[in-house]
Amino acid sequence: MTDRLESREKVTGEARYAVEYPVEGVAYAAAVQATVGRGEITSVGTEEALRLPGVLAVLSCENAPELRESGDAELALFQSRTVSYRGQFVAAVVAETLDTAREAARLVRVEYASEPPDVELRADHPGLYKPEKVNPVFPSDTAQGDADEAFAKSAVRVEATYTTPAEHNNPMEPHATLAQWHDDGTLTLYDSNQGASGVQKTIAGVLGLEPSQVRVVSPHVGGGFGSKGAPRPNVLVAALGARATGRPVKFAVPRQQMFATTGYRTPTIQRIRLGADEDGHLDAITHEVVEQTSVLQEFGEQTAVPTRMMYKAPHRRTSHRLVRLNVPTPSWMRAPGETPGMFALESAMDELAVAAGIDPIELRVRNDTGHEPESGLPFSSRNLVACLREGAARFGWAARDPRPGVRRMGRKLLGTGVASSTYPAYMRPSEATARAEPDGTFTVRVAAADIGTGARTALTLIAAEALKVELGRVRVEVGDSRFPKAPVAGGSMGTSSWGAAVVRACEGLRGKLNGSVPPEGLEASADTTDELKGRDRYARHAFGAQFADVEVDADTGEVRVRRMLGIFAAGRIVNPKTARSQLIGGMTMGIGMALHEESVMDAEFGDFLNRDLAQYHVPACADVRDIEADWVEESDPHLNPMGTKGIGEIGIVGAAAAIANAVHHATGVRVRDLPITPPRLL
Ligand code: MOS
Repeated sequence: MTDRLESREKVTGEARYAVEYPVEGVAYAAAVQATVGRGEITSVGTEEALRLPGVLAVLSCENAPELRESGDAELALFQSRTVSYRGQFVAAVVAETLDTAREAARLVRVEYASEPPDVELRADHPGLYKPEKVNPVFPSDTAQGDADEAFAKSAVRVEATYTTPAEHNNPMEPHATLAQWHDDGTLTLYDSNQGASGVQKTIAGVLGLEPSQVRVVSPHVGGGFGSKGAPRPNVLVAALGARATGRPVKFAVPRQQMFATTGYRTPTIQRIRLGADEDGHLDAITHEVVEQTSVLQEFGEQTAVPTRMMYKAPHRRTSHRLVRLNVPTPSWMRAPGETPGMFALESAMDELAVAAGIDPIELRVRNDTGHEPESGLPFSSRNLVACLREGAARFGWAARDPRPGVRRMGRKLLGTGVASSTYPAYMRPSEATARAEPDGTFTVRVAAADIGTGARTALTLIAAEALKVELGRVRVEVGDSRFPKAPVAGGSMGTSSWGAAVVRACEGLRGKLNGSVPPEGLEASADTTDELKGRDRYARHAFGAQFADVEVDADTGEVRVRRMLGIFAAGRIVNPKTARSQLIGGMTMGIGMALHEESVMDAEFGDFLNRDLAQYHVPACADVRDIEADWVEESDPHLNPMGTKGIGEIGIVGAAAAIANAVHHATGVRVRDLPITPPRLL
């Protein structure tokens, strides 16, 4: 139970975030967004804006420097006259003050030749196609046996279509960059991101620089949830603005502009068919997904991928179809793939339990498997059943009357639901250094990102253990691209990936230490690239079980989550205090997904209607009453030196299904379209 090491800095305001760095002579940027959803820019009128006192520059496709291609078309800022979606950045102003920049941005006159945008995802959209792969490199389609024939022959069948809306990450700290060019042509970016090394490499590439010419500084980050996993156009607004004016430039994306420019989760349409025998043993599973990408480039959310590994069944088919729309490119958000996919699969499992007259927990236990169904690989460890059993005991599941819609408390209908959770235990190569200082302390460096997760604290615990010294003698430094290269804080792989390199560096240092430390200190470095080769003998995933009690107002349809419990099996938990926070944070996001969050596309204007947290609803304290997360002991020797699986994302997976299943149990109404708003229940 270690407190977050930077907690005092954070609550006293000492911790600096990207645009808070004091830099001499700073100027401010404001961006102009496209007001059409599809078209060509015919002219950019800048005279009025430039006449405003204090305006330093206006950048657009008419004067922006040429950028290199990066593989991310969203980073081709001001490189073309084509507008791909409404809200795309088409110009930027740099001015002496933020107010002046914003006022000038209003005065930039961009003219367009426009056409009606195509923004509506439909299951019968004529543009649907099969992508080569889905995020990051999964095959689009898989098949084993003959799922259609097996389904047709099954004694118990469920066939249903589930939908999830577009959802926006909405981190508390916006995407923000302070860019400063130096006389030697190098660039410093104080930037809010999930990985300094990645931002350094990508932005250097776009600007035609060597990575060593770009330094990315980001020791504190106020949330990301995937949206800061790769650099966004805001980094280039700041960098180009600074280059054009010779001044350091700050650009924090206003929340109003975030909905178009910093990523979101695609809406999904998911058709699931489950066929089972009378005892609930699955014979056939099909999961067909329709979702969107942009005309700029392809991002296919891996929505059906968890269905490939979750339950035993001889016949299985999964597929993803995409359509290119005039929308911002979807991206990573809070367990991409698992989150929407497990909402559908775990809702369908609940429907199957009802159809077969089997307890939902028992149904999942009967379909558990020791081998990953599609790959045939043994799980390195799989404690789904332990999570279900432990959660059931602690939540009081045994007392649950399975009949839907029969418990009432005044106007409220009460229900209890369950769903499984899972998330892969990924690892990527990382580097780290460990240094013994002459004063008896140790400095460990890795370009990791602490986006509010407690990564710095976890890495310090890991380093102290590996060095066999007390915590207070170890300082871990993260969030700087000058530190040893590290993978992104994403895919729930931060602690495992960075921690393994930290352990190896610390072990190396211990091997070198004998006697006193020389005045210049003693350092060891590690790179886990080789260690991670040939790690394909096991399927590695974390598992969990989510439980929810809801009350539904019989008159208004309002749903409240009375109680939630998540029990997880995620290998070794490094720091219980911050781990619990991460898990209940994920579960809270699951409440948001189930009941609140929805980005609404306006088909006429071709844009998301949401502009702020008044329109994009997230759970507030009053929505989260009694929420608890815990874990079962899990010792897995096939992971990494720490025995960790990662806990960043599993907290959200399955949470929305548990709530939706509880709503069905309360009301008898099966809501298959998220979020579960009152009109969907009345
Ligand atoms: Mo997470 S959506 O992989 O940052």
